[in-house]
Amino acid sequence: MAAVRVQSLAGSGIASIPAEFIRPLHKRPGANTDGPSVQVPLIDIANISGPAHQGLREKTIADIGSAASEWGLFQVVNHGISEELIQRLEGVGKEFFDLPQEEKEKYSNNVAAGILEGYGTKLAHNIDGKLEWIDYFFHILWPPSKRDFETWPHHPPSYIEVNDEYAKALLEVVNKLLSALSVYLGVEENTMKEELGGEDLEMEMKINYYPPCPQPELALGVEPHTDMSSLTLLVPNEVPGLQVYKDGHWVGVEYVPNAIIVHIGDQLEVLSNGKYKSVLHRSVVSKDKVRMSWPVFCSPPANKVIGPIKELIDEKNPPLYNAKTFAEFKHRKINKLKQ
Ligand code: OGA
Ligand code: NI
Repeated sequence: MAAVRVQSLAGSGIASIPAEFIRPLHKRPGANTDGPSVQVPLIDIANISGPAHQGLREKTIADIGSAASEWGLFQVVNHGISEELIQRLEGVGKEFFDLPQEEKEKYSNNVAAGILEGYGTKLAHNIDGKLEWIDYFFHILWPPSKRDFETWPHHPPSYIEVNDEYAKALLEVVNKLLSALSVYLGVEENTMKEELGGEDLEMEMKINYYPPCPQPELALGVEPHTDMSSLTLLVPNEVPGLQVYKDGHWVGVEYVPNAIIVHIGDQLEVLSNGKYKSVLHRSVVSKDKVRMSWPVFCSPPANKVIGPIKELIDEKNPPLYNAKTFAEFKHRKINKLKQ
Protein backbone atom coordinates (compact mmCIF):
# COMPACT_ATOMS: atom_id res chain seq x y z
CA MET A 1 0.00 0.00 0.00
CA ALA A 2 1.36 3.38 -0.95
CA ALA A 3 1.99 5.72 1.93
CA VAL A 4 -0.03 8.89 2.26
CA ARG A 5 2.57 11.62 2.38
CA VAL A 6 2.15 14.35 4.95
CA GLN A 7 3.08 16.89 2.28
CA SER A 8 0.14 15.71 0.11
CA LEU A 9 -2.22 15.71 3.07
CA ALA A 10 -1.17 19.23 4.02
CA GLY A 11 -1.52 20.35 0.40
CA SER A 12 -5.07 19.00 0.13
CA GLY A 13 -6.40 21.99 2.07
CA ILE A 14 -7.73 20.20 5.16
CA ALA A 15 -8.76 22.46 8.05
CA SER A 16 -8.33 19.82 10.74
CA ILE A 17 -5.85 16.99 11.02
CA PRO A 18 -6.74 13.26 10.95
CA ALA A 19 -7.12 11.60 14.36
CA GLU A 20 -3.87 9.57 14.01
CA PHE A 21 -1.91 12.83 14.26
CA ILE A 22 -3.65 14.13 17.39
CA ARG A 23 -1.50 13.60 20.49
CA PRO A 24 -2.87 12.80 23.95
CA LEU A 25 -3.37 16.03 25.93
CA HIS A 26 -0.25 15.88 28.10
CA LYS A 27 2.02 15.02 25.16
CA ARG A 28 1.05 18.00 23.02
CA PRO A 29 3.29 20.99 22.46
CA GLY A 30 2.32 23.81 24.77
CA ALA A 31 1.21 21.43 27.52
CA ASN A 32 2.37 22.19 31.04
CA THR A 33 5.71 20.50 30.31
CA ASP A 34 6.82 23.55 28.30
CA GLY A 35 9.70 25.22 30.02
CA PRO A 36 10.84 28.74 30.77
CA SER A 37 12.76 30.38 27.97
CA VAL A 38 16.35 29.45 28.65
CA GLN A 39 18.89 29.26 25.86
CA VAL A 40 20.79 26.17 24.90
CA PRO A 41 24.57 26.71 24.93
CA LEU A 42 25.97 28.55 21.90
CA ILE A 43 29.69 27.90 21.47
CA ASP A 44 32.18 29.66 19.21
CA ILE A 45 34.59 26.92 18.11
CA ALA A 46 37.03 29.07 16.14
CA ASN A 47 39.76 28.15 18.63
CA ILE A 48 38.89 24.48 19.07
CA SER A 49 42.14 23.20 17.55
CA GLY A 50 45.64 24.41 16.96
CA PRO A 51 48.14 25.59 19.55
CA ALA A 52 46.93 26.49 22.99
CA HIS A 53 46.65 30.24 22.64
CA GLN A 54 46.00 32.23 25.79
CA GLY A 55 43.87 29.37 27.06
CA LEU A 56 41.28 29.84 24.29
CA ARG A 57 41.49 26.23 23.19
CA GLU A 58 41.03 24.99 26.76
CA LYS A 59 38.06 27.28 27.25
CA THR A 60 36.40 26.00 24.06
CA ILE A 61 36.97 22.40 25.13
CA ALA A 62 35.55 23.11 28.59
CA ASP A 63 32.47 24.77 27.07
CA ILE A 64 31.87 21.79 24.79
CA GLY A 65 32.45 19.23 27.52
CA SER A 66 30.14 20.89 30.02
CA ALA A 67 27.40 21.44 27.41
CA ALA A 68 27.67 17.76 26.43
CA SER A 69 27.40 16.73 30.08
CA GLU A 70 24.65 19.09 31.20
CA TRP A 71 22.53 19.46 28.08
CA GLY A 72 23.56 16.84 25.56
CA LEU A 73 22.93 19.52 22.94
CA PHE A 74 24.57 22.76 21.90
CA GLN A 75 24.96 25.01 18.88
CA VAL A 76 28.31 25.84 17.33
CA VAL A 77 29.33 28.90 15.30
CA ASN A 78 32.61 29.69 13.54
CA HIS A 79 32.76 26.01 12.63
CA GLY A 80 34.48 26.59 9.31
CA ILE A 81 31.62 25.61 6.97
CA SER A 82 30.72 28.54 4.77
CA GLU A 83 27.30 30.13 4.75
CA GLU A 84 27.30 29.64 1.01
CA LEU A 85 27.77 25.86 1.27
CA ILE A 86 25.00 25.57 3.87
CA GLN A 87 22.71 27.56 1.56
CA ARG A 88 23.52 25.27 -1.36
CA LEU A 89 22.86 22.19 0.80
CA GLU A 90 19.48 23.58 1.80
CA GLY A 91 18.72 24.64 -1.76
CA VAL A 92 19.26 21.20 -3.31
CA GLY A 93 17.27 19.48 -0.54
CA LYS A 94 14.39 21.87 -0.94
CA GLU A 95 14.36 21.31 -4.70
CA PHE A 96 13.77 17.61 -4.13
CA PHE A 97 10.69 18.25 -1.99
CA ASP A 98 9.40 20.77 -4.53
CA LEU A 99 9.31 18.06 -7.23
CA PRO A 100 5.89 16.75 -8.34
CA GLN A 101 4.66 14.01 -5.99
CA GLU A 102 4.99 11.24 -8.61
CA GLU A 103 8.65 12.16 -9.14
CA LYS A 104 9.38 11.90 -5.43
CA GLU A 105 7.58 8.54 -5.21
CA LYS A 106 10.20 7.04 -7.55
CA TYR A 107 12.57 7.21 -4.59
CA SER A 108 10.26 5.56 -2.03
CA ASN A 109 12.04 3.55 0.62
CA ASN A 110 10.66 0.31 2.06
CA VAL A 111 11.56 0.11 5.71
CA ALA A 112 9.65 -3.17 6.22
CA ALA A 113 11.79 -4.75 3.48
CA GLY A 114 15.02 -3.30 4.89
CA ILE A 115 15.41 -0.61 2.20
CA LEU A 116 16.08 2.37 4.41
CA GLU A 117 17.51 4.75 1.86
CA GLY A 118 15.18 7.01 -0.10
CA TYR A 119 11.98 8.96 0.41
CA GLY A 120 9.86 8.04 3.38
CA THR A 121 7.03 8.71 5.77
CA LYS A 122 6.76 6.88 9.05
CA LEU A 123 3.96 4.32 8.87
CA ALA A 124 4.49 2.32 12.04
CA HIS A 125 2.20 3.43 14.82
CA ASN A 126 3.79 4.01 18.19
CA ILE A 127 2.38 3.12 21.62
CA ASP A 128 -0.26 5.84 21.42
CA GLY A 129 -1.08 4.77 17.83
CA LYS A 130 0.06 8.14 16.51
CA LEU A 131 1.79 9.39 13.38
CA GLU A 132 4.35 12.16 12.95
CA TRP A 133 3.79 15.30 10.87
CA ILE A 134 6.82 14.79 8.65
CA ASP A 135 8.19 13.29 5.41
CA TYR A 136 11.91 12.72 4.93
CA PHE A 137 14.71 11.64 2.60
CA PHE A 138 17.49 9.44 3.93
CA HIS A 139 20.79 8.24 2.45
CA ILE A 140 24.31 7.24 3.44
CA LEU A 141 26.62 10.22 3.05
CA TRP A 142 30.00 8.81 4.09
CA PRO A 143 32.35 6.92 3.66
CA PRO A 144 32.53 7.03 -0.17
CA SER A 145 32.73 3.22 -0.40
CA LYS A 146 29.30 2.82 1.24
CA ARG A 147 27.30 5.33 -0.72
CA ASP A 148 25.15 4.56 -3.70
CA PHE A 149 24.36 7.64 -5.77
CA GLU A 150 21.45 5.77 -7.36
CA THR A 151 19.60 6.16 -4.05
CA TRP A 152 20.32 9.91 -3.83
CA PRO A 153 18.08 12.53 -5.45
CA HIS A 154 18.99 12.85 -9.17
CA HIS A 155 17.41 16.26 -9.28
CA PRO A 156 18.82 18.83 -9.13
CA PRO A 157 21.93 17.41 -10.86
CA SER A 158 24.17 19.27 -8.40
CA TYR A 159 22.71 17.32 -5.46
CA ILE A 160 25.63 14.85 -5.38
CA GLU A 161 28.37 17.43 -5.71
CA VAL A 162 26.93 19.69 -3.02
CA ASN A 163 26.39 16.83 -0.57
CA ASP A 164 29.86 15.45 -1.20
CA GLU A 165 31.37 18.83 -0.46
CA TYR A 166 29.24 19.17 2.67
CA ALA A 167 30.23 15.67 3.86
CA LYS A 168 33.94 16.51 3.64
CA ALA A 169 33.53 19.84 5.42
CA LEU A 170 31.30 18.34 8.10
CA LEU A 171 33.72 15.51 8.77
CA GLU A 172 36.33 18.09 9.76
CA VAL A 173 33.92 19.56 12.29
CA VAL A 174 33.05 16.08 13.60
CA ASN A 175 36.74 15.25 14.04
CA LYS A 176 37.36 18.45 15.97
CA LEU A 177 34.35 17.88 18.22
CA LEU A 178 35.34 14.27 18.91
CA SER A 179 38.87 15.43 19.83
CA ALA A 180 37.53 18.06 22.22
CA LEU A 181 35.11 15.57 23.75
CA SER A 182 38.00 13.13 24.28
CA VAL A 183 40.33 15.71 25.81
CA TYR A 184 37.62 16.88 28.22
CA LEU A 185 37.38 13.32 29.58
CA GLY A 186 41.15 13.18 30.08
CA VAL A 187 41.87 10.63 27.35
CA GLU A 188 44.01 10.91 24.18
CA GLU A 189 42.46 13.23 21.63
CA ASN A 190 41.94 10.55 18.99
CA THR A 191 40.23 8.14 21.40
CA MET A 192 36.58 8.80 20.51
CA LYS A 193 37.26 8.75 16.78
CA GLU A 194 39.12 5.44 17.02
CA GLU A 195 36.43 3.91 19.25
CA LEU A 196 33.89 4.86 16.57
CA GLY A 197 35.78 3.10 13.81
CA GLY A 198 38.33 5.74 12.77
CA GLU A 199 38.16 6.20 9.00
CA ASP A 200 35.18 3.85 8.89
CA LEU A 201 32.99 6.25 10.86
CA GLU A 202 29.72 6.55 8.93
CA MET A 203 27.59 9.58 8.26
CA GLU A 204 23.96 9.42 7.20
CA MET A 205 22.02 12.34 5.76
CA LYS A 206 18.35 12.84 6.61
CA ILE A 207 16.35 15.68 5.15
CA ASN A 208 13.32 16.38 7.32
CA TYR A 209 10.35 18.08 5.66
CA TYR A 210 7.62 19.32 7.98
CA PRO A 211 4.71 20.75 5.94
CA PRO A 212 2.49 23.48 7.40
CA CYS A 213 0.02 21.94 9.83
CA PRO A 214 -3.52 23.33 10.24
CA GLN A 215 -3.53 22.39 13.96
CA PRO A 216 0.09 22.53 15.10
CA GLU A 217 -0.94 22.61 18.77
CA LEU A 218 -2.27 19.03 18.50
CA ALA A 219 0.58 17.33 16.60
CA LEU A 220 4.30 16.62 16.77
CA GLY A 221 6.87 16.63 13.98
CA VAL A 222 9.11 14.00 15.52
CA GLU A 223 8.24 12.32 18.81
CA PRO A 224 10.51 12.49 21.85
CA HIS A 225 13.58 10.30 21.21
CA THR A 226 17.33 10.12 21.62
CA ASP A 227 19.47 9.55 18.51
CA MET A 228 21.26 6.20 18.17
CA SER A 229 24.27 7.92 16.63
CA SER A 230 27.41 9.11 18.40
CA LEU A 231 26.90 12.72 17.34
CA THR A 232 24.19 14.26 15.19
CA LEU A 233 25.01 17.54 13.45
CA LEU A 234 21.94 19.38 12.21
CA VAL A 235 21.30 22.51 10.22
CA PRO A 236 17.71 23.81 10.25
CA ASN A 237 15.94 26.31 8.03
CA GLU A 238 14.80 29.52 9.68
CA VAL A 239 11.55 28.08 11.10
CA PRO A 240 12.13 27.05 14.74
CA GLY A 241 10.73 23.74 15.98
CA LEU A 242 13.40 21.66 17.72
CA GLN A 243 12.92 21.24 21.48
CA VAL A 244 15.11 19.53 24.09
CA TYR A 245 14.08 18.06 27.41
CA LYS A 246 16.01 19.75 30.21
CA ASP A 247 15.31 19.49 33.92
CA GLY A 248 11.76 18.29 33.37
CA HIS A 249 10.81 20.86 30.73
CA TRP A 250 10.77 21.17 26.94
CA VAL A 251 13.04 23.99 25.89
CA GLY A 252 12.98 25.45 22.36
CA VAL A 253 16.23 25.69 20.41
CA GLU A 254 16.62 29.19 19.05
CA TYR A 255 17.40 29.65 15.35
CA VAL A 256 20.90 31.07 14.91
CA PRO A 257 21.79 31.69 11.24
CA ASN A 258 24.60 29.38 10.05
CA ALA A 259 24.97 27.65 13.40
CA ILE A 260 25.19 23.86 13.51
CA ILE A 261 23.17 22.11 16.20
CA VAL A 262 25.12 19.28 17.82
CA HIS A 263 23.29 16.43 19.56
CA ILE A 264 25.06 13.91 21.76
CA GLY A 265 23.68 10.50 20.74
CA ASP A 266 23.45 7.15 22.51
CA GLN A 267 26.91 5.91 21.44
CA LEU A 268 28.72 8.82 23.09
CA GLU A 269 26.74 8.34 26.27
CA VAL A 270 27.97 4.73 26.33
CA LEU A 271 31.60 5.55 25.39
CA SER A 272 31.78 8.27 28.06
CA ASN A 273 30.20 5.90 30.61
CA GLY A 274 27.33 8.31 31.17
CA LYS A 275 29.39 11.48 31.47
CA TYR A 276 27.88 12.82 28.23
CA LYS A 277 24.12 12.75 27.98
CA SER A 278 22.22 11.46 24.96
CA VAL A 279 19.68 14.24 24.64
CA LEU A 280 15.91 13.64 24.60
CA HIS A 281 14.45 15.86 21.90
CA ARG A 282 11.36 16.33 19.74
CA SER A 283 10.10 18.76 17.13
CA VAL A 284 6.96 20.79 16.79
CA VAL A 285 5.42 22.11 13.58
CA SER A 286 4.20 25.43 12.25
CA LYS A 287 0.75 26.50 11.10
CA ASP A 288 1.78 28.26 7.93
CA LYS A 289 5.45 27.60 7.27
CA VAL A 290 7.43 24.67 5.96
CA ARG A 291 10.10 23.64 8.44
CA MET A 292 13.09 21.71 7.12
CA SER A 293 16.16 20.33 8.83
CA TRP A 294 19.25 18.42 7.72
CA PRO A 295 20.53 16.15 10.49
CA VAL A 296 23.66 14.09 9.77
CA PHE A 297 23.98 11.05 12.03
CA CYS A 298 27.59 10.03 12.75
CA SER A 299 27.76 6.39 13.74
CA PRO A 300 30.22 3.53 14.09
CA PRO A 301 30.12 0.74 11.49
CA ALA A 302 27.55 -1.98 12.31
CA ASN A 303 30.08 -4.54 13.58
CA LYS A 304 32.03 -2.17 15.83
CA VAL A 305 31.75 -3.03 19.53
CA ILE A 306 30.89 0.01 21.62
CA GLY A 307 31.31 0.05 25.38
CA PRO A 308 32.61 2.48 28.00
CA ILE A 309 36.19 3.64 27.22
CA LYS A 310 38.56 1.49 29.31
CA GLU A 311 40.54 4.41 30.75
CA LEU A 312 37.34 5.75 32.30
CA ILE A 313 36.68 2.58 34.27
CA ASP A 314 38.16 1.77 37.67
CA GLU A 315 36.95 0.59 41.05
CA LYS A 316 35.18 3.83 41.78
CA ASN A 317 33.77 4.09 38.27
CA PRO A 318 32.28 0.76 37.25
CA PRO A 319 30.93 0.41 33.70
CA LEU A 320 27.33 1.60 33.54
CA TYR A 321 26.64 0.12 30.07
CA ASN A 322 27.14 -3.29 28.46
CA ALA A 323 29.48 -3.38 25.47
CA LYS A 324 27.87 -4.62 22.24
CA THR A 325 28.07 -4.09 18.51
CA PHE A 326 26.31 -1.07 17.09
CA ALA A 327 24.08 -3.45 15.08
CA GLU A 328 23.04 -5.19 18.30
CA PHE A 329 22.38 -1.85 20.00
CA LYS A 330 20.11 -0.75 17.14
CA HIS A 331 18.28 -4.08 17.08
CA ARG A 332 17.58 -3.82 20.81
CA LYS A 333 16.50 -0.22 20.70
CA ILE A 334 14.19 -0.66 17.71
CA ASN A 335 12.61 -3.74 19.31
CA LYS A 336 12.48 -2.10 22.75
CA LEU A 337 14.67 -4.78 24.35
CA LYS A 338 16.88 -4.20 27.37
CA GLN A 339 20.36 -2.89 26.42
C1 OGA B 1 15.71 13.69 13.94
C2 OGA B 1 15.39 14.91 14.72
C3 OGA B 1 14.87 17.24 14.80
C4 OGA B 1 14.66 18.42 13.91
O1 OGA B 1 15.43 13.69 12.72
O2 OGA B 1 16.27 12.74 14.55
O3 OGA B 1 15.49 14.85 15.91
O4 OGA B 1 14.92 19.52 14.36
N1 OGA B 1 15.03 16.03 14.07
O5 OGA B 1 14.22 18.25 12.78
NI1 NI C 1 16.76 13.17 16.55
